Amino acid sequence: MSHLSLPPASVTARAGAALKGRLRVPGDKSISHRALIFGLLAIGETRIEGLLEGDDVLRTAAACRALGAAVTREAPGRWRVRGAGIGGLTEPADALDFGNAGTGSRLMMGVAGSHPITSTFDGDASLRKRPMRRILDPLRRIGVSVLSEAEGGRVPLTLRGPHETVPITYETPAASAQIKSAVLLAGLNSPGITTVLEREATRDHTERMLRHFGAQVEVEPHGDHGRAVRLQGQPELRGSEVVVPSDPSSAAFPLVAALVTPGSDVVIEGVMMNPLRTGLVTTLLEMGASIERLNERHEGGEDVADLRVRSSRLTGVAVPAGRAPSMIDEYPILAVAAAFAEGTTRMDGLHELRVKESDRLAAVAAGLAAAGVRHAVDGDSLIVEGSGRPVPGGGTVATHLDHRIAMAFLVMGLASRDPMTVDDGAMIQTSFPTFIPLMRELGATIHD
Ligand code: S3P
Repeated sequence: MSHLSLPPASVTARAGAALKGRLRVPGDKSISHRALIFGLLAIGETRIEGLLEGDDVLRTAAACRALGAAVTREAPGRWRVRGAGIGGLTEPADALDFGNAGTGSRLMMGVAGSHPITSTFDGDASLRKRPMRRILDPLRRIGVSVLSEAEGGRVPLTLRGPHETVPITYETPAASAQIKSAVLLAGLNSPGITTVLEREATRDHTERMLRHFGAQVEVEPHGDHGRAVRLQGQPELRGSEVVVPSDPSSAAFPLVAALVTPGSDVVIEGVMMNPLRTGLVTTLLEMGASIERLNERHEGGEDVADLRVRSSRLTGVAVPAGRAPSMIDEYPILAVAAAFAEGTTRMDGLHELRVKESDRLAAVAAGLAAAGVRHAVDGDSLIVEGSGRPVPGGGTVATHLDHRIAMAFLVMGLASRDPMTVDDGAMIQTSFPTFIPLMRELGATIHD
């Protein structure tokens, strides 16, 4: 994991050839974290194919080892986990360092916090700024003691789990799959039924994997757009096979690159099409994008398709707030698409973007300014004025330790009049380590 402690290295992308060819992006980050965590909590062996080997997920693998699992890499993407079982975790000898990973750290707080062990969580400068009260509040309600925390409820923090946790009914205060998942994972070691209510449905990978590993979960509608998830505690999870489909949040970058780079024709293979993750594709289709879903199939319990993407004339649209949970990680790259579109794109309901790896609303706005794109931030909304022509470009973007800011503005540079530079490309390793070589294979000009 030492690559992330290297000094920041700027990266530049410039316009060149049309993008052509086929590619497969790495495994889904959300599912990769969960596959390892469920492997830790199961009895017996879990076999994972297609695990994302990005820094975020490697940190979760290390944490699983520290909590008592045997985790081995057999080949690229092929991992084995021999679990410790629910109730069987061992106390980690050292602080668990999650690097840049919000998902790994928050889900693991639910896992470790629900066991009678003491565990310390830490991370990089970005993770140390992110709010953890959203996890600590429900954990306190199930009986977890927060022995120490950095100011404002942040890492580094130390948890001590009780001998027996209390099953709760919890309504999540934000549309967040991480909060939902932390509570459900803690509920695995509580007697009785743990219920999570969410007003807006968020990605359901935890619920799907709970069932896959043998837990009893009921999901019902809750309100107009939400769900109620009920989990029967203390099941015996059985080691299972997990096939990780390609990450739609990573596919988003070559997808938009092909749309905005003239003459491009690209097929992205095996992309997960879980309906709670496809908000970007829906929005781009509304903008006039040429995206065909080919070879639609099921793989590893998820809908999967090959996406054929051809460069397209895009027009601005209004993106409703209700769509945010299904495309929460895709706004930086949508803003790039909007900059090349003709007319105004308005994106509402972006408050959660302020607490991602960076304040993504501010980082995207600063990047658009550096590229000479007209835009405005209005409360929790971002408005981008596209001219329908290549954007000026020529700027340097501060990435603020945020992988998606880095990749989004490199994609912009592939079609802007002048090149775009990001001040630090190192964080791309957290979620999409093969981004630059894969883009180069399509014909992109990206260099140090
Ligand atoms: C994730 C949930 C989302 C998303 C993150 C992955 C998950 O975060 O932004 O990249 O795997 O559960 P929130 O739960 O904070 O919205």
